[in-house]
Amino acid sequence: MDFKALPKIELHAHLSGSIRRETLHEVWVRKKESGETSLEDPLIEMPVGKFDYNLETFFPLFSKYIYALCNDISALTYTTNAVLADFQSDGVVYLELRTTPREIPSAKITKDIYIQTIISCISTFNTLHNMKVNLILSIDRRNDAATAISVIDLALKYRSQGVVGIDLCGDPAVGDISIFQPAFSKAKSEGLKITIHFAEAVQSSTDKELWRLLEYCPDRIGHVIHVPDKVKEEIVRRKLGLELCLSCNVHAKMITGTYGDHHFGWWKETECPIALSTDDVGVFGSTLSNEYALIAEHFGLGRKEICELARSAIDITFADEEEKRRLREIMWV
Ligand code: IMP
Ligand code: ZN
Repeated sequence: MDFKALPKIELHAHLSGSIRRETLHEVWVRKKESGETSLEDPLIEMPVGKFDYNLETFFPLFSKYIYALCNDISALTYTTNAVLADFQSDGVVYLELRTTPREIPSAKITKDIYIQTIISCISTFNTLHNMKVNLILSIDRRNDAATAISVIDLALKYRSQGVVGIDLCGDPAVGDISIFQPAFSKAKSEGLKITIHFAEAVQSSTDKELWRLLEYCPDRIGHVIHVPDKVKEEIVRRKLGLELCLSCNVHAKMITGTYGDHHFGWWKETECPIALSTDDVGVFGSTLSNEYALIAEHFGLGRKEICELARSAIDITFADEEEKRRLREIMWV
């Protein structure tokens, strides 16, 4: 089966984690030539073929390296356009990209300007290509309550320009997610969609945390790894949309075992719709078409089941009805 040709939906992709290291290298070369960077070459920092980032090495890669390289309008624009082109050439027909609003004082970039820059790339892309893109803004677990509210305000401000929802992400080992109650309550009451990184690591999978996160009424949850039985029952009862990430979980050793041991095998027997997702294709190196190929191989799914799996993401997109209709047409061929 040609998994690239299969029309696919990507619902869980972090912008900065989706930049290929070759793209980062191109940015670095330009900065190096103009004497703008003393950072190491991305191809040395992240050698081709190295995907074994774990939860300890993964988050500093952003805060200490990728953010230091993608630190002006030109780098943000270049890398965002490259990420969009990469998903399109992999056969993605609808993408929900997510990013954490980031200010870059050295380039006089406010969070507002950061979002405007990304939105501008997406709008231009949407007018020129078949793949349609919407944006989700992320709250980082390290944020304080006021910062989280400011993410909601930004999402509301740019809603008419394609911001469709809010995400909660970041290092699962840090933060107290109970402080985000007012932010999620505001998002919900304003009708923004909500997706949450859920039970991603043992530390972030206490009963207290998971039940609290469910109180925020997420429309989708991501990863869904270390879930106690009672919480599983509730997720199934709500038929929540699940964003499951195979290679990321295997490479980062977030699950025990390998591809065939992934909890996809358990959730696929439930009535929860699944959106197979890449998470950070730039870091873990597995495109969405490759994720489908891995699922087919390790869970013995044939063409019909793979097409059904791809289509099961339509109803849990945060897209409007018109876009969902377009996707049903494309994906039923
Ligand atoms: P950005 O939001 O576009 O800057 O993308 C990078 C950010 O996404 C990282 O700094 C993390 O906070 C977040 N992120 C990426 N992958 C994961 C994940 O698997 N779990 C939690 N957070 C993640
Ligand atoms: Zn993620």
